[in-house]
Amino acid sequence: MPTRKLLLLPGDGIGPEVMTEVKRLIRWMNDNGLGNFETEEALVGGCCYDAYGVSITEDTMAKAKAADALIFGAVGGPQWDGVPYDLRPEAGLLRLRKELGLFANIRPAVCYPALADASSLKREVVEGLDIVILRELTGGVYFGEPKTITDLGNGQKRAIDTQVYDTYEIERIARVGFELARKRRNKVTSSEKRNVMKTGVLWHEVVSDVHKREYPDVQLEHQLADACGMQLVRWPKQFDVIVCDNLFGDMLSDVAAMLTGSLGMLPSASLGEIDAKTGTRRALYEPVHGSAPDIAGKGIANPIAMLASFGMALRYSFGMVKEADLVDQAIAAALAEGLRTPDIKSAGATVVGTTRMTEAIIAELGRLAAA
Ligand SMILES: NC(=O)c1ccc[n+]([C@@H]2O[C@H](COP(=O)([O-])OP(=O)(O)OC[C@H]3O[C@@H](n4cnc5c(N)ncnc54)[C@H](O)[C@@H]3O)[C@@H](O)[C@H]2O)c1
Repeated sequence: MPTRKLLLLPGDGIGPEVMTEVKRLIRWMNDNGLGNFETEEALVGGCCYDAYGVSITEDTMAKAKAADALIFGAVGGPQWDGVPYDLRPEAGLLRLRKELGLFANIRPAVCYPALADASSLKREVVEGLDIVILRELTGGVYFGEPKTITDLGNGQKRAIDTQVYDTYEIERIARVGFELARKRRNKVTSSEKRNVMKTGVLWHEVVSDVHKREYPDVQLEHQLADACGMQLVRWPKQFDVIVCDNLFGDMLSDVAAMLTGSLGMLPSASLGEIDAKTGTRRALYEPVHGSAPDIAGKGIANPIAMLASFGMALRYSFGMVKEADLVDQAIAAALAEGLRTPDIKSAGATVVGTTRMTEAIIAELGRLAAA
């Protein structure tokens, strides 16, 4: 079994609390012959700013570039609100995404049967939901230049953001979408606003070309982004993989997130290009939630988003599909037992803390792996 080098970046608030649970899972996998992981840990975010005056150090950047995968907790908190913009806790994460070229953000939205009543939508609409929002993460209107606010001198100001995409950026995210779909239900929905945006016209054209040329076996449909948002809350089970740009992906993935009930349940992966020589790719795995300062230190954070993010590392960085499936099944089984952290509690459930929840998931994993 090859040795996998993981860089753990716990961060701030509940980040270190949920990372402790991932370490518990990693230890268990190493001890039980399900993996061979070497871990190293470093500071990022507010805690790094307090120690070194920056949100990520050069040394940590070098370690991040050398690791097989990065496992990231969460950063930020009110105590760093006054920190200069370039040094704020989130700057460390943005630097990692940018310098590692993590252009593909995968956010699954899975509704575990035991949690179908926690969604704001009806049970029949979300029960058994299993879709993926694939968001382009390093281009588009968040990064395009010019990006300015100009004083027009007549009591008015003008703000400009620029939406810009090149062919290669659309091609590479489309390929990730088609590859994902081939391993799932073989359907991609591409979402843009070609009726009013030139980037939408190019997006539609390039995704269609990649499909025709390289993935004709995958079902492709196009939906305007506003219609896609509407369909997501009307009947989300019609989708398999939704691929979209940075801006629409940001919004649609948050909509999809809430279909599943709680922020504490949602994992994510951010992937870079495949290296032609090694066949590997840089990747960062993190829960969708933030540092949750309101519950930090109380031992009640839901560890599932973080554990499921590690499950995504098994699947997408290491090809350990069987083990990744086992982690997902163990989470479903612990929930089916009736265990809940406070954020997902429901009538009749047993409310447990962060560690107890993880222990139950690992116990289920043991049972499933032995079966
Ligand atoms: N990627 C990141 O590191 C990231 C992402 C989002 C926000 N943040 C930062 O986190 C800080 C807090 O932001 P916020 O309050 O808007 O978002 P948040 O995700 O931290 O919390 C929102 C709400 O969800 C709850 N919650 C979140 N994760 C949970 C979990 N695992 N278990 C149980 N409950 C959970 C919190 O208690 C809170 O009530 C801010 O400094 C923000 O900038 C960081």
